[in-house]
Amino acid sequence: VHLGIDLGTSSVKCVLLSESGEVTAASQVAYGIDRPHPGWAEQDPELWWSATVDAVREVLVRGGALPSSIGLSGQMHGIVLLDERGLPVRPAIIWPDARTRAEAELWRTAVGDAQVTSRCGMPIASGLAGLSLTWLSKHEPAALAAASSVLQPKDWIRFRLTGALALEPTDACATLLFSIVDEQPVPELLALAGVSREQLPPMMATQSVAGEVTRRAADATGLRPGTPVAAGGGDQAMAAIALGLDRPERAAISISSSGTAVVPLELGTRSIATLSRTHHVIAGAHPGSRMAMGVVLAAGLATRWLAEDLLQGLASEGELLEAADAILPGSEGLTANPHLGGLRTPVVDGRPQGAFLGLGFHHRPAHLMRAVVDGVALSLAQSVLATPARSPVKEIVLSGGGSRFAVWHRAIADASGLPVVLSADVDHSPLGAALVGAIAAGQPVDFDSGARIRGRVEPDPVRAAAYRRVAATAAGCGAQPMVSLDTPP
Ligand code: XUL
Repeated sequence: VHLGIDLGTSSVKCVLLSESGEVTAASQVAYGIDRPHPGWAEQDPELWWSATVDAVREVLVRGGALPSSIGLSGQMHGIVLLDERGLPVRPAIIWPDARTRAEAELWRTAVGDAQVTSRCGMPIASGLAGLSLTWLSKHEPAALAAASSVLQPKDWIRFRLTGALALEPTDACATLLFSIVDEQPVPELLALAGVSREQLPPMMATQSVAGEVTRRAADATGLRPGTPVAAGGGDQAMAAIALGLDRPERAAISISSSGTAVVPLELGTRSIATLSRTHHVIAGAHPGSRMAMGVVLAAGLATRWLAEDLLQGLASEGELLEAADAILPGSEGLTANPHLGGLRTPVVDGRPQGAFLGLGFHHRPAHLMRAVVDGVALSLAQSVLATPARSPVKEIVLSGGGSRFAVWHRAIADASGLPVVLSADVDHSPLGAALVGAIAAGQPVDFDSGARIRGRVEPDPVRAAAYRRVAATAAGCGAQPMVSLDTPP
């Protein structure tokens, strides 16, 4: 079997994948986000590691077999600083962080938006490693000076497993430190971030073996010492492999902590400059491959906030999502702007801007949930429709924890006007990581994403029309349309 580990935003997830492509066991260990100040988002790398140890132990017990390869996936854009002994210097600053508005201004003045997006495929936006590093160089220069290595979240897990320090392109090129054009560091941006080339570990290929499980890591996890560990990649690139995104007619939408819409691309340098005005351009798992991505920073983060923090557990998040499915899109006159932590696509705006518009006496908690689902679904659907894909997108495959709920299936199909295909798997990032681990170790798995489709949801014309009306009112509560409302699906 092959082990895939995905260090997510809300939990770490493990799967064991057999040679014939079956998931034989899975495990998940949850953690929270530390928000010491409004807008901040941090997590403790030691906690990530202990959660990973627990999740690996659990999946090994459930699967009853030791893996012959390991692959890694992880939340993107964050930053982990290690001192020369390999210990974290401070908590990781992670992608939902919104503290760097002043630093973003500094970058804009020093290099400019167009320069950065055309080089990096990503905009000058809070939560991205480059800006978090600029913040550290200003507010915690001693921490940055003490850092002999600057890593992405999953690179830290690989380091704990193998002792090897490495970066790889799918994550590194989404930091604002490396170019998406040639995957090389951009000296001007490193200088702005206050890091030197020496603080960045060597770049390894995503699908290569980066190291082997050490005796110490084996004792902690129950893994066999010497097991090869692949470089692995960012969660979106890893999910894409398991979702069959090599088919050009297919796009993927994931409803996790964030919501993402990913479309595979064929690109020239010029199209990076154009596309990155509204989308991110990120590296895929196959060498040189590129994908367009639209992001809703708060998808699962918003539905959980609504259930747990705003409504304080009146009903569970799952109960509200189920009740919301019985309400028509448009939520009987209620529209929500779900961007509680600001936006990165189609425009950058780091200010919190969540809103409900049109509340009436007839509205109940499930209506609030319906409105949030509508807002997230519209934004992601528009992001797919606005991407100049290799060939027209004909279907959207869903993944992430939200794909357990029928309300999301219908919302994405109706908001996009495209059929939604449902896969037998929910969490594609750990699965893609397991596949990449197996490829890197030279033991490729017989895996057919097409054979894993278990259902199809067709768009409904009446509900699709309702979404056009929602889109029209969404602008009233500050939502940013990706495409003109009249754009035919
Ligand atoms: C993508 C993004 C998130 C993280 C979550 O740009 O910020 O989807 O990848 O893990």
